[in-house]
Amino acid sequence: MTFDYRPLTPDTEDAFHNTVGRTFRFAEGYWETFKRRIGAENLRTVHLDGRVVGGLGFYAAGQWFGGRVIPCAAVAAVGISPEVRGGGAAEYQMRSLVEELHSAGTPVACLFASTQRLYRKTGFEHAGSRYSYDLPMNAIGVRDYELPVTEVPLDSPAPFEAIAEKRARLTNGHLDRTPGLWERLLQHPGGHQAGYVIGNPSDPEGFLIDRYCVDHEETGHLYVRDMAALTPSAGRRLWALIAGHRSTIPWVHWCGPAVDPMLCLTAECKRANAQLLRWMVRIIDVAQALEARGYPSDVSGELHLEVHDDLLPANNGRIILTVANGKATVTSGGRGDLKVGINGLAPLYTAFLPAQVLKSVGRLDGDDATLRLADQLFAGPEPWMPEIF
Ligand SMILES: CC(C)(COP(=O)(O)OP(=O)(O)OC[C@H]1O[C@@H](n2cnc3c(N)ncnc32)[C@H](O)[C@@H]1OP(=O)(O)O)[C@@H](O)C(=O)NCCC(=O)NCCS
Repeated sequence: MTFDYRPLTPDTEDAFHNTVGRTFRFAEGYWETFKRRIGAENLRTVHLDGRVVGGLGFYAAGQWFGGRVIPCAAVAAVGISPEVRGGGAAEYQMRSLVEELHSAGTPVACLFASTQRLYRKTGFEHAGSRYSYDLPMNAIGVRDYELPVTEVPLDSPAPFEAIAEKRARLTNGHLDRTPGLWERLLQHPGGHQAGYVIGNPSDPEGFLIDRYCVDHEETGHLYVRDMAALTPSAGRRLWALIAGHRSTIPWVHWCGPAVDPMLCLTAECKRANAQLLRWMVRIIDVAQALEARGYPSDVSGELHLEVHDDLLPANNGRIILTVANGKATVTSGGRGDLKVGINGLAPLYTAFLPAQVLKSVGRLDGDDATLRLADQLFAGPEPWMPEIF
């Protein structure tokens, strides 16, 4: 039995659609939309003895860490034909993808895992979260209508991009969306979807992209596809805009970080339900990823690491991370004070978990001074992202 991993070609399109499309129950006609959004050049097939048995894709996006955007492969649609599952096809194609991304110079990859074991085996680890919240509309209690609200068309991300970028600079983990990822967010087949900007339309302070169905039973939700508020008044106006639906829609659903500052603005939050999803990151090129990220501008130091990576030998070995003025350089050598496997490096890199905590779960090792320095260098807001892809 021989596996093979290849770029999608016109000859293998049908087979990809029949394996991966069937796995994810692509709706009638969705294949062309999916292919356009992700880019046919970013689709791969895995073959067993010459026959296509699965595939995957990735959005060639970016991801924000420390106020800078890092090229990132956002991996999606990993699927294997049911009859060959359990035979190593998925692991083979994930290993092949990781090697391919490394050769292509892509520093990081991220994904939402349905089965963590598969991805852990290829160096991915929990590195950020996405909490889904449900809150009764009548708990919002905000009546601030001061800022103007303007409905904008959803055929282009233009009204939202600048705000999304400002928000991304202030947190960790947000995607620098490709046109396909924006389209995925803005065009949803179900319900009535609308977009609004808050404040002066030429320099807005917030936005809301939402979706709802007319709800005669009054049991439904207003689904927030994404929302952002850069100022307190935009945050209050956003909630007032959402609460305006309360006579016909009893709940609002949105996604945010574990500690969501938007809940500081609602009258009540006791009845909010939160459901956790975590995303995983693979550091594909350690030196490039460390140099591309931003760091706190008031912290400097030299962190000596010893990185272990079973899959990519180029990542193995000792390096010195020198940080000053918010930027880093990486040189080889040093004492190897912080011993970390490639899985353990991901949650440290994204600021998902501090080094002292990662040591307690066996993901890295080092003395107290080394861990304290690592925590200062990688300190930052909780990494999260509003969408799933
Ligand atoms: C998940 C999926 C891609 C795995 O494909 P596969 O070819 O059976 O996986 P592999 O045989 O390469 O398994 C690799 C490792 O992952 C583990 N694994 C695979 N499927 C798993 C599952 N459903 N739950 C837990 N672990 C799983 C295997 O046990 C194996 O680890 P091991 O060798 O240490 O036992 C396949 O079941 C599938 O297509 N599922 C439906 C779509 C899906 O869930 N895709 C993932 C989206 S993120």
